[in-house]
Amino acid sequence: MSKRFLIAGNWKMNKNAQETRAFFNQLKNLLTPTIQSELLICPPFTSLETAAHYNQTTQIALGAQNVHPELKGAFTGEISPAFLKGLVSYVIIGHSERRTLFGETSAFINQKLHALLSAELKPILCVGESLQERKQNKAFSVIETELEEGLKGISADQASSLTIAYEPIWAIGTGETATPEIAEAIHAFIRKWLTNRFPQQANSIRLLYGGSLKSSNAQHLLSQPNIDGGLIGGASLEPNSFIEIARIADQIRK
Ligand code: 13P
Repeated sequence: MSKRFLIAGNWKMNKNAQETRAFFNQLKNLLTPTIQSELLICPPFTSLETAAHYNQTTQIALGAQNVHPELKGAFTGEISPAFLKGLVSYVIIGHSERRTLFGETSAFINQKLHALLSAELKPILCVGESLQERKQNKAFSVIETELEEGLKGISADQASSLTIAYEPIWAIGTGETATPEIAEAIHAFIRKWLTNRFPQQANSIRLLYGGSLKSSNAQHLLSQPNIDGGLIGGASLEPNSFIEIARIADQIRK
């Protein structure tokens, strides 16, 4: 039986509470007929409460874009996994913007991963190579290192709560998408890595593609055997384009 797709929107630093309300009010009207794929929206922290009001009516899961590994203490500006519990089900970690703009290391990301698993929140671990690394034929080794370091110390049982997102840095926000072949090659590599490590769980772990995913390229990307959904930036900000991608996904795995 094939897995349900996960169609996830990462809003990044977009949409205040008022804009979040407008998004969900518009989205509500687009949900019939029922969507089969799992839908997830990751708004900024300050819009989570507002988005949570729509949980019941829309059945859309909520996620956070970041978390701190400690539960509480002197960490000015940070958000604890304990604060997110009950509010979100997923948390994005290791996004390339956090790695490159905020200097987050794989070791730090690994601490976040463990904190999330302890709090029974589902991590979405992002991995991906830069353009330079791709040109130097280092894409596979970069991904392998990010998996090794990011997933260090997790048990097979814990692995079943994982989602991995492959987001080639050169495709994020650039309008340039990985071809379905490039994306599938990396996804198949990730699946193989997971199979070696967690033979029982590997097939049920969802692997998302992210990087300029939109309705015009969703069909080809989501049809690849090892792509189980998308992590969508720009195209998730508009209800119509987000839902259109979900409907395309539904057609692929009916
Ligand atoms: P875009 O879809 O805007 O390229 O962003 C992708 C992304 O970074 C999602 O996390």
